[in-house]
Amino acid sequence: MSADKQKGEVIRVLVVEDNPDDLALFREYLLSVESVRVSRWVIRSAETLQSALDSLKEQDVDAVILDLTLPDSSGLNTYLKISEQVPACPIIVLSGMEDESLAIDLVKRGAQDYLPKSNLNPDLIVRAILHAIERQSLLQKLAEVNTALMHERNEVTQLQMQLIQAEKLESLGRLAAGVAHEVRNPLAMLQMGVDFYTRRPGPKDENEETMMEMMHDAIARANRIIVEMIDVSKSTQLEIKTDDIVTCVREVLNLTRHNVIKESINVIEKFPESLPKLQFDRSKIEQVLVNLISNAIDASPREATLEISASMGSVGRVIPDKGLRKLKQPRRGDEVVIIEVRDYGQGIPEDKIGKIFDPFFTTKPTGVGTGLGLSVSKTIVELHNGMLTIENAPPCGVRSRIVLPVASG
Ligand SMILES: Nc1ncnc2c1ncn2[C@@H]1O[C@H](COP(=O)(O)OP(=O)(O)OP(=O)(O)O)[C@@H](O)[C@H]1O
Ligand SMILES: [Mg+2]
Repeated sequence: MSADKQKGEVIRVLVVEDNPDDLALFREYLLSVESVRVSRWVIRSAETLQSALDSLKEQDVDAVILDLTLPDSSGLNTYLKISEQVPACPIIVLSGMEDESLAIDLVKRGAQDYLPKSNLNPDLIVRAILHAIERQSLLQKLAEVNTALMHERNEVTQLQMQLIQAEKLESLGRLAAGVAHEVRNPLAMLQMGVDFYTRRPGPKDENEETMMEMMHDAIARANRIIVEMIDVSKSTQLEIKTDDIVTCVREVLNLTRHNVIKESINVIEKFPESLPKLQFDRSKIEQVLVNLISNAIDASPREATLEISASMGSVGRVIPDKGLRKLKQPRRGDEVVIIEVRDYGQGIPEDKIGKIFDPFFTTKPTGVGTGLGLSVSKTIVELHNGMLTIENAPPCGVRSRIVLPVASG
């Protein structure tokens, strides 16, 4: 064997041909050609469509040479069955005088080439096989590049949507700042008035007292909405420190204990012995947790179970890698800490799930929820380069997860 020949590849070909003479000739032709690109031919054969399909199931080949007329199949059907089974394998159609136009048609449908039986010669066969393999591999690469491009395009679209959202939030922020400025002073005046009448000496009737209390609550609520609107606008700065996330979760559980007891909720805590310290703004993450836990309690029936856990994981294994993410969010393989709030309440109707992060989206009665909780929470978690995910979980209820990156170094 020459040195050049040793550099080539082993090429495995399945020849599907029911005529033993044609098959023998084909084999002889192939073996007679020396090519620098081929170190050895492995030629397998099949005489029927079924035996060809069985053979392809058992072992891969680099190319199929296909006679369209076989004892158990003919014409287009022969080609379709084989290409269905091995869509990525190049198929070269052997055609007689009678089915040449069909062979040409098959090349248009995806066959790599056709060889007229009446005019075969060794060089032609080898060249057809090698070119077919080459073209198929290029097609494969093209398909991969195409998929990657589609992926990139989706990511760009996603980023554009995020930009639009960011711009919306920024305008909302500017609006909020204006509203805060304009409305806070009149609200303060109203509050002073309420305080004045509440503290006024002398007897008050019951209606008067109830009215004062209602006005006081309404002013407090209006103030809260303004503060939250400014929060949504993400103008707030984070105060990042290295801190223990489990202590933070435990503190929030203490804060929400009153509601838990009132609703007789059974809280199950699952915290590991140790977790790496994280970089976060404690009061902001507490704000997120208060909202997730309050949402869970609001959605749960009395005496329901509420599970709160913290754990280590990695994107792609514990947290699905959805492929689309903001630039600084955790990527496949990154180590993260996951804080999970799992309730067994009514869950979120499918037609509402896409809206829950929208500012002011709420299903709660007026006066109970402002609908800013999740929108603010998402902004806060993303400012920490993390992710906030909310999903319905079988058999019922919702699983909310705060995913925070484990800071490197
Ligand atoms: N655990 C949950 N189970 C069922 N529905 C939920 C859950 N968490 C959120 N939701 C739905 O998402 C909506 C938006 O939640 P979000 O926290 O943003 O606002 P809110 O709780 O209604 O008001 P706010 O938090 O501002 O007081 C809720 O009104 C509710 O319909
Ligand atoms: Mg809420």
